[in-house]
Amino acid sequence: MKIIKTIEELKEEISKLKGSTGLVPTMGALHNGHKSLIDKSVKENDNTVVSIFVNPIQFGVNEDLDKYPRTFEADCKLCEKSGVTIVFAPTPEVMYSSSKDNLTLICPPYSAVDKLCGKSRPGHFDGVCSVVAKLFNLTHAKRAYFGQKDAQQLFIIQKMVKDLNFDIEIVPCPIVREEDNLALSSRNKYLTQDERKIALSISQSLFEARKLVEQNIATKRAIVDNSLALMKELDVEYIEFVNYETFEFQNEVDRNTLMLIAARTPISKTRLIDNMKL
Ligand code: PAF
Repeated sequence: MKIIKTIEELKEEISKLKGSTGLVPTMGALHNGHKSLIDKSVKENDNTVVSIFVNPIQFGVNEDLDKYPRTFEADCKLCEKSGVTIVFAPTPEVMYSSSKDNLTLICPPYSAVDKLCGKSRPGHFDGVCSVVAKLFNLTHAKRAYFGQKDAQQLFIIQKMVKDLNFDIEIVPCPIVREEDNLALSSRNKYLTQDERKIALSISQSLFEARKLVEQNIATKRAIVDNSLALMKELDVEYIEFVNYETFEFQNEVDRNTLMLIAARTPISKTRLIDNMKL
């Protein structure tokens, strides 16, 4: 496995690869959720490139860029064991020749970003799309793998690929959960022991919502009330229902409904997200 830190070296190594390439874009602090993406890519492609880059332009001023977990050595070991061909781990200076206000960015439409996570994280998806587009161009990947936990990110990237005719297949990968159903996230590292328990009320809300739908108690109000009661120790940012194909809000739950939750924990103020098809 090659660990590459510059664009020149990456271009050279990519030009030598034979067959198909799968790309797994990450910000490091790899966990079993990332591993499931990597395993799928290794299985479906001749080569797999994993990028490890904490992308500064997708973080807002008061967000956790500086304290975002960095576990580079362990990440490389996981990649090597999983059969990755190249780890691309540039510095911000390598990726960006100037500050965000002086860069050409890809800005997804207002209709896609003015809701859910985009509402509280202005500019976040411009940063995500811009870095992902650069990675697509640099790796010439045939497929790129993204987790369904970041459902809005996945929707926006699929839209970018379609709108801008990127020649790449986006492969959505299911959410990976701990045994007690907490969705895996690099940010789970911030949680105190108590918060870890409190955070379970997020996935519990989603699983109970699914049960309510099965029992035909499918009004939004009933599901939201039940979720708010379960998540009373969290600072809930949103509980929303969208059509998973269009990401338009829904007033009634139907077979296309994706329920999404974002909430902050009380002590470390960790922002957690999760979602489920109902
Ligand atoms: O989901 C993430 O980890 C990041 O948003 C991504 C896609 C690697 C872009 O920096």
